[in-house]
Amino acid sequence: MTKNRVGFIGLGLMGAPMAANIARAGYPLTVYNRSADKAHGLSPLGAKVAETPLQIAAQSDVVITMLSDAPAVEQVLRGEEGLLAGGRDGELLIDMSTVSPEQSRSIAIEIESQGWRKLEAPVFGSTGPARDGTLGIMVGGDETLFQEQHELLSVMGQDIFYMGPMGAGTLTKLAFNLMVAAQVASLAEAMALATKGGVDPRQFGDVLVKTAVASALVKRKLGNLVEGDFSAAFPLKHMHKDLGLMIDTGHSIGAPLPATGAIHELFTAATARGRGDQDAIAIYCLLAELAGLTPDTSSPH
Ligand SMILES: NC(=O)c1ccc[n+]([C@@H]2O[C@H](COP(=O)([O-])OP(=O)(O)OC[C@H]3O[C@@H](n4cnc5c(N)ncnc54)[C@H](OP(=O)(O)O)[C@@H]3O)[C@@H](O)[C@H]2O)c1
Repeated sequence: MTKNRVGFIGLGLMGAPMAANIARAGYPLTVYNRSADKAHGLSPLGAKVAETPLQIAAQSDVVITMLSDAPAVEQVLRGEEGLLAGGRDGELLIDMSTVSPEQSRSIAIEIESQGWRKLEAPVFGSTGPARDGTLGIMVGGDETLFQEQHELLSVMGQDIFYMGPMGAGTLTKLAFNLMVAAQVASLAEAMALATKGGVDPRQFGDVLVKTAVASALVKRKLGNLVEGDFSAAFPLKHMHKDLGLMIDTGHSIGAPLPATGAIHELFTAATARGRGDQDAIAIYCLLAELAGLTPDTSSPH
C-alpha cells in the first residue's frame, strides 16, 4: 500500500529524532523548522526541506507538529505562509506538542472550520525513546481516524493509547507530567538537604537507588545530578510551561493542585534565573542557591 506523504514541523530535541524515524520507515517526508539549519539535518535521510508551513501543507497528506507550545502551533497555522493557507479538504493535522486540553480543542475548532481534521497525540518519554521509536503516545480525537493513523504513530511510539475525544490525550499527558515535576522537584530538594547537611552526594545517590522511591525517572535524573550534567533532555522551560497548563486546567475544571502550585513557583523562579534551557533537574541549582550552598559545595558531583 502506498504510504501517506508526511509533513513534519518542529525539529527540536524531540521532533528531529521522531521525523528521522518516519523517514527511515519509508514515508515520503517533507520537514520544516523555524530555524532552517535544523531541517537540513534530515536531508541525508531523504527528507525534502520546505521553506514555509504552507509548502508543507501542499506536499503532505498528514502533517505532524512537535512544537514548544500552543502559541507556536498557532503561529505555524496562521498567516499567508501558514499551514491553513494551503492544504486540501480533509487534510490531517496530528499535533504531538504538549498543550492544554482547552488549547487543543480550540485549535481543533479553528482548523476543522477550514476543512482540516485533527488528532492530538502528546507523548511521554524523552529524547532517548524519541530516538529509539519507543515513545508512549496518548491520542485524543476521532477513534476511526486514530485507527487509520496507528501505523504511522507506531513508527514513533511503542505504547499507543486511544484516550477518548479531543482533550483526553492532552489531559492524560499533563496529569503524568504533574508526577514527573513532583519527582524531579523532590529529588532536587532531597539532594539539597543531604548536601547542605554534609552527607556525601554520591553516597546519598548510592543509597537512594536501593530504595522503593527510586523510579526509573529518579534514577536517570539522579545520574545526571551526580555527574553535574544539566544539559537539556527535557528543557526546564517546557516543564515550567506544562506546570502552568496543569494549574490553568485544574482551575477550569475545579481540581485543586496545591502541591503542583508550589512546584510551579519553584520552576517560575528557576526560569527567571535563566535556567530555562537547562534540563528540568537544574531545579537543583536553584535550591542549592536558596540553601546557601557555595559553588564549591552546591554541585553534588
Ligand atoms: N524534551 C522532552 O523530553 C519532551 C518529552 C515529552 C514532551 N515534550 C513536549 O514536546 C514538545 C517539543 O519539545 P522539545 O523538547 O522538542 O522542544 P524544543 O527542543 O525546545 O523544540 C521546540 C520546537 O518548536 C519550534 N518553535 C518554538 N516556537 C516556535 C514558533 N513560534 N514558531 C515556529 N516554531 C516554533 C522550535 O523551532 P526553533 O528550532 O526555530 O526554535 C523547535 O523546532 C513540547 O511541547 C514539550 O513540552 C518534550
